[in-house]
Amino acid sequence: MGCWRSPQGGRLFYPLDNNDGMHLHRVRIGLAMRSMKPHNWQAIKPPNEGEATTFTLTINGQQEEGFAIRTHGALHAYINRCPHAGTPLDWLPGRFFSADGTVLICQTHGAIFAPDSGACLAGPCPHGLVALPVDEKEQHLSVPADLTMQT
Ligand code: FES
Repeated sequence: MGCWRSPQGGRLFYPLDNNDGMHLHRVRIGLAMRSMKPHNWQAIKPPNEGEATTFTLTINGQQEEGFAIRTHGALHAYINRCPHAGTPLDWLPGRFFSADGTVLICQTHGAIFAPDSGACLAGPCPHGLVALPVDEKEQHLSVPADLTMQT
């Protein structure tokens, strides 16, 4: 998995090798830097272009929902929790994209997010979505099943 920075500069995401062989992932959201360390991974169905696959995972011992999307051929995953009021984003189960497929929309108050970075583009969101690491090898997609996150 490569490292990259969103065009808006709002999110930085890259894996680091930890000394125990695990990967430590760091995500920048607004001005906050979070570290996340996956402990276990799970295989999920790779979403088709413009679609999403939801999954559950444990973050710091709490069950959360995540979703993986494919946009412009690339896979991205986020915690399914809007940074405005904390509700799930999907307006129908597993439906996150706008009708034209260009942005992600929160069903509660209409915040709009960039699919390829999770950045908040419009609406009441104070920052972008929390990204999760994805690992795709030979058309098999894995996402964390259990991770710890620190700010
Ligand atoms: S909870 Fe998502 S915009 Fe308010």
